[in-house]
Amino acid sequence: MDEPEIPAVAKALSLQAGICRNMGSPLNGELLDRAAADWLAGGPVKALMAPWADSNLRTQFDAAAPLRLIGSWRELALSGDDPAVSVAYDALDAAAIWAAVRVAMVEHRQRLARFMAHEPQTNEVRRSIALLGGFLEIAKATGLPLRCFEIAASAGLNLSWDRYRYRMGDVTWGDPAAAVRIDTAWEGGSPPVEARVSVIERAACDRRPIDLHDPDERRRLVSYIWADQTERLVRINAAIDVALANKVHVERADAIDWVRAKVAPKPGTASVLYHSVFWQYMPAESREALAALIAEIGAQATPDAPVAWLRMEPRGAAPLMDVTLTLWPGGEDRLLANAGAHAAEVRWFGANHS
Ligand SMILES: C[S@@+](CC[C@H](N)C(=O)[O-])C[C@H]1O[C@@H](n2cnc3c(N)ncnc32)[C@H](O)[C@@H]1O
Repeated sequence: MDEPEIPAVAKALSLQAGICRNMGSPLNGELLDRAAADWLAGGPVKALMAPWADSNLRTQFDAAAPLRLIGSWRELALSGDDPAVSVAYDALDAAAIWAAVRVAMVEHRQRLARFMAHEPQTNEVRRSIALLGGFLEIAKATGLPLRCFEIAASAGLNLSWDRYRYRMGDVTWGDPAAAVRIDTAWEGGSPPVEARVSVIERAACDRRPIDLHDPDERRRLVSYIWADQTERLVRINAAIDVALANKVHVERADAIDWVRAKVAPKPGTASVLYHSVFWQYMPAESREALAALIAEIGAQATPDAPVAWLRMEPRGAAPLMDVTLTLWPGGEDRLLANAGAHAAEVRWFGANHS
């Protein structure tokens, strides 16, 4: 007899369990396996996943439905509104967390469902280590101060990239006393850490910026960081403090409108437009329009007013990211590095790689 088909919701939960394990979160691996079993048994997970009950597997993942579920539990834990859930999360004990959230999914169903109605929005600070090499290459090639324009900046945590301390294999860069410290599994040579870097202007946009002054939005952002990834949690909290202390601001705007209004070459400076893990969120025609607009801005560059386009984006459908730099005048694309989705690994090639 054929095995009965596992419904897409349960399949998505258990596939996400495997992904969490592979990406270094055994805790969420276990919690999501329990959630899949609970859904099949008709437990409280079923009511929370009801909006996706008729969706196919692809839609479950496009909507990041399983991540909304674990994010909703974690937000409750961070809020302190359900002490049993908070205590269990503090102990990082999967069995205790499951016991507490199983009760909470009944008692706080509406609150959790409200949280899950939002699409997850993250801001991965570690991506700054993959972008840093690009900024250094631009500073070295132009010898000019930088104006940094970040699109799709989320909470704007990577706008402070030059305020962080980095270790890239054998070399370091940045203020040794910086509160945000970033390292990674680095392969290949070193970026030009000797280049003089001075950021004289920075600005950012997102179509849905996270307001770090709002404690609810801040907690929502942190709740998507997996609870057993302590290093990421420490880093994001430190980066939030840096952003607040430096009054980092992300304007609410669509990328194309904002680039058209804000980005233009300026004599005596290098104007750098950059982004990470954003391109896939735009429809194909918007991607083409934005690429054409950037090329148009690049065509106005002069040796005294260069323009750079630096990005860390997935290569096709693969989780591997390409870190690419285009520098005008010239306008040749250079693959600087490959990186993992969270930049936990970086393989550096540099600007002279062909
Ligand atoms: C996966 S997040 C990446 C955030 C950040 N760049 C990072 O690497 O951590 C994608 C971001 O793109 C933003 N976004 C998507 N489409 C956009 C658009 N057309 N204009 C501006 N922001 C957009 C989303 O709001 C979200 O903050």
